[in-house]
Amino acid sequence: AIQRTFSILKPDATERNITGAINALIEKAGLRIVAQKRIHMTRGQAETFYAVHKERPFFGELVDFMTSGPVVVQVLEGEGAIAKYRDVMGATDPSKAADGTIRKLHAKSIGENSVHGSDAPETAAIEIAQFFAGNEIVG
Ligand code: CMP
Repeated sequence: AIQRTFSILKPDATERNITGAINALIEKAGLRIVAQKRIHMTRGQAETFYAVHKERPFFGELVDFMTSGPVVVQVLEGEGAIAKYRDVMGATDPSKAADGTIRKLHAKSIGENSVHGSDAPETAAIEIAQFFAGNEIVG
C-alpha cells in the first residue's frame, strides 16, 4: 500500500551541505518528497519528538544535537514507504549500516547519523502531525 513516513535530515547533514545528496538517494529509491521545510527545532519540539527516549542516557545529548543547527523535516510517500525508507537509511549505527545506505555513505556516528525515519504507521502519523499541517503535504 502507499504509505507516508516522516523524515528528518539532521544537523550533521545541513552543516555539511549534503541535503541534496541525501534527497537524491531518497528519490532514487522511489520515494517522493511530498512535504519539506527547513527549521531550527526548539528544545521543546525536540523533547516532544523524542519523548519515548526520555529515560535513555543519551536523551540530553540527543536534544542538544537536534537543536544544534537547522534540520530539514520531510514527508515521504511511496509503496511501503516506512520500511523502504528504513532500508534506504541503513542501521542506526553507521558502522553496521549496509553499503549504499544513507548512513553508510554519510553518517558520522550513532548520534550524528544524518537522518531519522518513522518506525511504524502509528508513529509516522504522530510525527507528521507534529511538524506539518494537512495543507502543507502535496502528494
Ligand atoms: P533516531 O532514528 O532519530 O531516533 C533516536 C535517536 O537516538 C537515533 O536516531 C540516534 O541518533 C540516537 N541514538 C541512539 N543511540 C544512541 C547512543 N547510544 N548515543 C547517542 N545517540 C543515540
